Amino acid sequence: MKIITTIPEMKAVIRGHRSQGRTIGLVPTMGFLHEGHMSLVRAARKKTDVTVVSIFVNPTQFGPEEDFKAYPRDINRDSAMLEKEGVDFVFYPEAGDMYPKGYKTYVEVHDLEDKLCGRSRPGHFRGVCTVVLKLFQIVEPDFAFFGEKDAQQAIILGKMVRDLNLGVQVVALPIVREPEGLAMSSRNTYLSPEERRAALVLAKSLKEAKRLIDHGERRTDVILGKMRAMIGQEPLARIDYVEAVDTEELEPVKELGEGTLIALAVYIGKTRLIDNMIVHLER
Ligand code: PAJ
Repeated sequence: MKIITTIPEMKAVIRGHRSQGRTIGLVPTMGFLHEGHMSLVRAARKKTDVTVVSIFVNPTQFGPEEDFKAYPRDINRDSAMLEKEGVDFVFYPEAGDMYPKGYKTYVEVHDLEDKLCGRSRPGHFRGVCTVVLKLFQIVEPDFAFFGEKDAQQAIILGKMVRDLNLGVQVVALPIVREPEGLAMSSRNTYLSPEERRAALVLAKSLKEAKRLIDHGERRTDVILGKMRAMIGQEPLARIDYVEAVDTEELEPVKELGEGTLIALAVYIGKTRLIDNMIVHLER
């Protein structure tokens, strides 16, 4: 495994592999890796000849009041994990190279970026789309792997790829959870033991939603009401949003259908956590 820190070297290495006819898989990350990231890495290894994992805490996707500085970083631990998994290249660029002085170009996916998480994180998805498009330009992957944990992100990036006719296939993979149900996240490290226990309420509320759906409930106001009430019972939790939307426009739906996205963001203390579920109706 090789760690590459400059854009010209990354491009040159990829050019070499491409000329040999090899397929390239890219797993974009911000590092501080966990099993959620590793599930993407394994999928990339399986599907493509050459696996590139990027590690870059992208400043443009953090708001001024957000945790860019505090975001956990541990490149040594991350590289050891990736080496063990048989990854070929880690792309680990510097912020000054990705966004040199005078940088001016950004990508926006209108409408979708203002919904759900976008409402409380203005500019977040603009930063995500911009960095991911840059990574696509540098690594030229055939396949790029993302987690359904960030469902809105995966949907927006899929839309960007279609709208801009990019030659990359976006693959979205299921949420990996801790044994107690908490969706894995680099931000879980912010939680105190008490907060970690409280954070289980996100997954529990989705479980309750699933139970209601399995019993035939289709009215989203009833399901979301139950979820909100459950989260409301947890003193350390404060709801940002709990919504049921379609996965094309991310517009709220009144009645659940196959593929409806139930998504939520909840503050546990100061830490904002997200979770979601795609509804599959039994036939
Ligand atoms: P990061 O939060 O590091 O996540 C990198 C990828 O891992 C994303 O596609 C995310 O959805 C996926 N992931 C995180 N937790 C997961 C879990 N529990 N189960 C499955 N997949 C999980 O998302 C980002 O970084 C950034 O926005 C990025 C796309 C790298 C752009 O900067």
